[in-house]
Amino acid sequence: MAYDFDSLPSKIDWQNGQIAADIFIEEEVYQRELKMLFSRAWLFLAHDSMIPNPGDFLNTYMGGDAVIVARQKDGSVKAYLNVCRHRGMKVCRAEDGNAKRFMCTYHGWTYDISGDLVNVPNENDAYYNELDKSKFGLVQVAQIDSYKGLIFATFDPTAPPLLDYLGDSTFYIDSWVDHTPGGIEVLPGVIKWTIRGNWKIAAEQFAGDGYHVNITHMSSLAQITDTDIYDGPSPAGYMYSSRLGHGYGSITDHANRFTDGTSSYKEQRRATAIERLGPERVNSVGNFTVFPNLSGLPGQANLRVWHPKGPNTFEIWSWTVVDKDAPEEVKKAQQLSSVLTEGAAGTVEIDDGENWNLMGQMLEQGYQTRQLNWNYQMGVGHDTDNHPTLPGTISELYMNEGPQRAFYRRWLDFMTSKDWPHVSDPATLEEVPER
Ligand code: FES
Ligand code: FE
Repeated sequence: MAYDFDSLPSKIDWQNGQIAADIFIEEEVYQRELKMLFSRAWLFLAHDSMIPNPGDFLNTYMGGDAVIVARQKDGSVKAYLNVCRHRGMKVCRAEDGNAKRFMCTYHGWTYDISGDLVNVPNENDAYYNELDKSKFGLVQVAQIDSYKGLIFATFDPTAPPLLDYLGDSTFYIDSWVDHTPGGIEVLPGVIKWTIRGNWKIAAEQFAGDGYHVNITHMSSLAQITDTDIYDGPSPAGYMYSSRLGHGYGSITDHANRFTDGTSSYKEQRRATAIERLGPERVNSVGNFTVFPNLSGLPGQANLRVWHPKGPNTFEIWSWTVVDKDAPEEVKKAQQLSSVLTEGAAGTVEIDDGENWNLMGQMLEQGYQTRQLNWNYQMGVGHDTDNHPTLPGTISELYMNEGPQRAFYRRWLDFMTSKDWPHVSDPATLEEVPER
């Protein structure tokens, strides 16, 4: 039976906090996400520090599509489909590296680092010199841009500029990428693993699920923290949500929770960050999601992307992020801590993965389970668009599901809008995009 997309607006009742569980498992919903969301939204590709030199490239995905991101001779960055124009073979199978050209290993069509087709075997005899190579370069993304080193691209030529897409989330992104004069650096070594679940569950959790931490991570936090903050009620902090789907959470009431051996450096850095950004954006623990699938944990030096691989499968690609100008021993300690807590077998990470896997398994197997609505009512009506110092919609508690509701509201915009779902004023919650 075909999925009834006309009923989608009633199934995503973000106002009252009810979300239909079938959007996390239906194949047709997933296929529509690939077309309506991942083929249009600005998606994170890489950080500048991952491809610093001309010829540096890495392979990633935009939704389900394989994409090469490459630093050009003039220092700019291009991104194009990693799909040969001859028969659709994957042109480059290395995860990353430095190259002048990519030769497809099927018949040998060869592309330069900008994606142009530069050599075709037997062009003179078998093709009678009649092939117009200029028409068969690798397919470029429609737009590519970066914000403070974070490189994004979109397949949609009508998408608004990246800065408009990010909206006031840059205020919070700055708290991580711009809190020291040197900015951040992504350390070499990505960790990739697979979860049998739906990518949205992970993305929404990082947007705003301060609620699970007490319970899901109870045992692991007991091992790695030096305070008992999570034993009490909602910790002091706030949750930010955006009409554009982004979310950010911050615990603000103490300097350093994780005992990773870098506390004196972090104290020092905190002072610098307060000077640069003010006290409210300096956190020891934080979480964020840039809609739809870039997330991070600033307090644990971790950045990740949720790559969808099917309605009930996603890959996590996880990196350690450090301050570029931090001492080497601090970088090493943070990498070790990030991997031990948020790596594939990290003490904290496996708690989340167990939830996501089990939820995915139950949705896959249970017909009745798929008919349910899930509850996103926490804090409905208890946030403000007029916070005196913080932009966006703010909850004064770290526990509030506003960011998740905003995430699904934005998801609904993309899934149901034929044209780009413009929001004229991100702070105006009454604004409804054209459908
Ligand atoms: Fe790439 Fe034929 S598929 S050269
Ligand atoms: Fe968690």
